[in-house]
Amino acid sequence: MHTDKTAGGAADKTAGAVADKTVGGVSARSVDDAVGNAVDAAEQAGGRLRNKSADSSAAGAMGVPSGVKVTGVPTAAEARLILAEAERLNPGPWVQHSIVTAEAARNIACHHRELDPETAYVFGCLHDIGRRTGVSHLRHTIDGYKFMNKRGYEGCARICLTHSFPLPDLESYSGNKDCTADELTFLRAYVGRIHYTLYDELIQLCDSLVTPQGFCLLEKRMVDVALRYGVNELTVPKWQAVFALKQKFEDSLGCSVYELLPGIAETTFR
Ligand SMILES: [Fe+2]
Repeated sequence: MHTDKTAGGAADKTAGAVADKTVGGVSARSVDDAVGNAVDAAEQAGGRLRNKSADSSAAGAMGVPSGVKVTGVPTAAEARLILAEAERLNPGPWVQHSIVTAEAARNIACHHRELDPETAYVFGCLHDIGRRTGVSHLRHTIDGYKFMNKRGYEGCARICLTHSFPLPDLESYSGNKDCTADELTFLRAYVGRIHYTLYDELIQLCDSLVTPQGFCLLEKRMVDVALRYGVNELTVPKWQAVFALKQKFEDSLGCSVYELLPGIAETTFR
């Protein structure tokens, strides 16, 4: 499906290559320069996405399915194979959580004229792919980023990093920051400087709308995460950011996101 290397792939590849070098361990100055290059490249790709989104609105208004074209994304079938391989390496509820996140993203994208349902599904499916190598916390974001970049899927790599930061601040992550000092420096700078695309925001929202058992109320997922990983002074601002995302998507959809998630009442109150 979306593997157009001419519309952003080169920039994303630069970001991936630079990031790989960065997290390998170099001087603080080099890290900062490399993050700047990586974010600049990602911003260029994001700008193209936003422009395409704006362009495609006209098509949508004419009744033509629009969909934002994204580079560096496998097909849904490939994504499920990648997830299945990861499950063999590290089985756990995170796999079903990924599948339900993918279904939530696809359902919402089906009703959103700027989003492509299959791309949304793939991003949801692979957003936690960094968990393939074992139990980890913050580290799963950067592991996923490096893994997807190595496979040439830069669009997914970006989601592996951005999905954990609806509030663009590394300190909003309340779990264990099990990364090297260089990785933390890279993450802090990347998250602090990136401008989120609609797909980044979609997966940030959907990650908070699911349990491994199915779709659920945002509040249930938030409390579940807080009980397992704790809270800090940025937890409430992070929740507010997620509620703002829900409102943003509902303004575009013209309905509640909950209406697009079948079985949500049963999962929430089970
Ligand atoms: Fe997730």
